Amino acid sequence: MDNVHKQVLEVKNLSANFYTSRGLIRAADNINFNVGQSECLAIIGESGAGKSVTALSLLRLVPHPGRIEEGEINLEGRDLLQLNPKEMRRVRGEDLALVFQDSLSTFNPVRTIGSHICETITAHRKLSSAEARDMARCKLAEMGLPAERSFRSFPFQLSGGMRQRAALAMAMSLHPRVLIADEATTSLDVTLQAQILHYLKKHLQECCMSLLFITHDLAAAAAVADRVAVMYAGRIVESGPVREVFRQPLHPYTSALLRSHPSFCPGRLEPINGSPPDLADLSPGCAFSPRCLKGREICRNKVPSLQELWPEQQAACHFHQARKNDLREAAVT
Ligand SMILES: Nc1ncnc2c1ncn2[C@@H]1O[C@H](COP(=O)(O)OP(=O)(O)O)[C@@H](O)[C@H]1O
Ligand SMILES: [Mg+2]
Repeated sequence: MDNVHKQVLEVKNLSANFYTSRGLIRAADNINFNVGQSECLAIIGESGAGKSVTALSLLRLVPHPGRIEEGEINLEGRDLLQLNPKEMRRVRGEDLALVFQDSLSTFNPVRTIGSHICETITAHRKLSSAEARDMARCKLAEMGLPAERSFRSFPFQLSGGMRQRAALAMAMSLHPRVLIADEATTSLDVTLQAQILHYLKKHLQECCMSLLFITHDLAAAAAVADRVAVMYAGRIVESGPVREVFRQPLHPYTSALLRSHPSFCPGRLEPINGSPPDLADLSPGCAFSPRCLKGREICRNKVPSLQELWPEQQAACHFHQARKNDLREAAVT
């Protein structure tokens, strides 16, 4: 259990903004989270919440017209925001690897999958090309792919699911300390997704890797994560152990998200009121207030801060939900 408590990645007050013709967009606004060794933290939330910008910020790859405004990204005690570009290039892939949804853009269409993985390996490790080839085939096989055939294939020759697994194999080839999977399993069918999640989970323990699992699929988050952070309009609005948050959410947005998901509310789905906010035109108070059934005057004027409301469970809401145990305690006293 000690492993779980050793922090590998500590993100403090991280903010990334986009300077657009429509105005300032705070896509990642004062983000704080930790990921422990062998631990999986899921970041969930609707499209446009700032999940990918947060992931790109960790690798210092926020595209123009965006930039990281402030914060700290401590990876095993080293603040990545203080590294020079050469040091940062080493960190990418070797310490912190990213896989995203669109694996077609990960690969150059005129080169084989094998040559991509070998190049990644030899750029960071002093290995002969024969050793790199063996390692690449081994990683492809670990992902359940036919190693030789996928090694020799061009990206377009593989199905979407196979290509996605090849992208994961490439990301895992250097045994990164932290893997960031940004909707990386979203396009896979359910059975395949379950297999990959099982593999990743096993890998976390065996290789002491940490996983930042970014998804809008709550069932996938529940299957793989130890803890979860819920993002809304660029902010974390709730975080805590995945079991606690999904069983007893404290933030109305988390509740609404769960009620709108078939795995958590079979048979009586309730879509969330309204639509996600335009980040260039946010109301001054809580960004969720226009869609919130509990919204009152203060919600429209004052942004609630993230507070620890239950051991390890935090939420940012002026009128957060009571947990069932709170209610029981209230009834006793
Ligand atoms: N290249 C960009 N230019 C301007 N704004 C952007 C850009 N990329 C992202 N954003 C803004 O950041 C917000 C969060 O985007 P993103 O992190 O991709 O959301 P998610 O991954 O949660 O779907 C978007 O709603 C958008 O307002
Ligand atoms: Mg995204």
